[in-house]
Amino acid sequence: MPAFNLPDPTDDPLLNLIGRFRADKRDNKIDLGVGVYRNDQGNTPVLAAVKSAEAVLFEAQDSKSYLGLTGDTEFVDSFGRLIFGEQAQRTIAGAQTPGGSGALRLAAELYKTAYPDNTLWIGLPTWPNHMPLTEAAGVNTRTYPYFSLEQQAVLFDDMRQHLSGAVPGDAVLLHGCCHNPTGADLSEDQWQQLADLLAETELIPIIDLAYHGLGRGLQQDLAGTRTIIQRCPQTLLAASCSKNFGMYRDRVGAVYMAADDALASRAQAFFGHLARRIYSMPPDHGAAVVKLILTDENLTHEWQSELNTMVLRINTLRDAIASAGSALGLDFVGQQHGMFSLLPLNPAQVESMIEEHGVYMAGDGRINIAGCQLSQVDRFIAALEAVGFQR
Ligand SMILES: Cc1ncc(COP(=O)(O)O)c(C=O)c1O
Repeated sequence: MPAFNLPDPTDDPLLNLIGRFRADKRDNKIDLGVGVYRNDQGNTPVLAAVKSAEAVLFEAQDSKSYLGLTGDTEFVDSFGRLIFGEQAQRTIAGAQTPGGSGALRLAAELYKTAYPDNTLWIGLPTWPNHMPLTEAAGVNTRTYPYFSLEQQAVLFDDMRQHLSGAVPGDAVLLHGCCHNPTGADLSEDQWQQLADLLAETELIPIIDLAYHGLGRGLQQDLAGTRTIIQRCPQTLLAASCSKNFGMYRDRVGAVYMAADDALASRAQAFFGHLARRIYSMPPDHGAAVVKLILTDENLTHEWQSELNTMVLRINTLRDAIASAGSALGLDFVGQQHGMFSLLPLNPAQVESMIEEHGVYMAGDGRINIAGCQLSQVDRFIAALEAVGFQR
């Protein structure tokens, strides 16, 4: 028999980091690596609203028969209402997906089907899975500069200039809020200018909304998304419930397309067709829980207040790091949003943060703010100083 010839898989550096962290016996180690929310005890608990909804579901669910290729319609609608509000001039097509990753994959598949020869433009730096995930759908990709590590600022002029090389029908991947890995979002004015540019040059926005509610709150985090949808006639959006509902392993997400009636109804049919070829149907449990939360006033309220607690904790930590690290030039951390910031550290500095100081972070210098505890901030800053961090 010919050899079952499998090349070595490429390593996932973050998964390696988890392994190293677990094996580290130091009891004062700090985990700023993995991108999950943690409370001040260092845990990622199940939200109380989720627990309550799960209890209701346990009693009420009377069948586990198939739902359909696009999942639970009521989940898609209630989650959609949270995101789109009243976008009167657009029709919204939507499908439940396995997490935000599944939503991105379906968005990429839909885009590739409609524009097989065009290009998706991805801003750098970005979430490391954006490129492999969209390229696996057969989409051509190119990059544009998004962020200056030295200035800790969005390179808006460079971004615009690069996008002038795009042709009508090309797509542009945008982080809806809480940019991963930089924490640097566009200002309202920049969103407006970008929306004008995309509309005028006939480019298609694909918005990745993975951290909705974890930056400035549920409404404000949508400002950019809504500006884009209002101005651009066809927008794809991939949304995740992993972080804002803390449902990482349950794989809850949805893909949407905001367009005119005719295109939206075609997209609606296509989402199911595309899902069928990849995973058939999304898993039900998490979406059923989120639907219960979003359609019950008390549960919605409970979830929102838990989300507020998370945001408050992240922002308190941001302020604490900015103020304790002010002499090192870390003030920018206090102005950024969401769970991440990207520190200008070289690989040797990152390695000695890990090896010598037990402070774990991604190789590119990304830190998960929520991984830090308030009591660890001073030690984190001292470690940065010891490895020669200075802006
Ligand atoms: C920017 C970004 N998009 C999408 C995702 C995908 O999230 P999910 O776990 O819901 O697939 C993540 C997860 O880390 C992310 O950071």
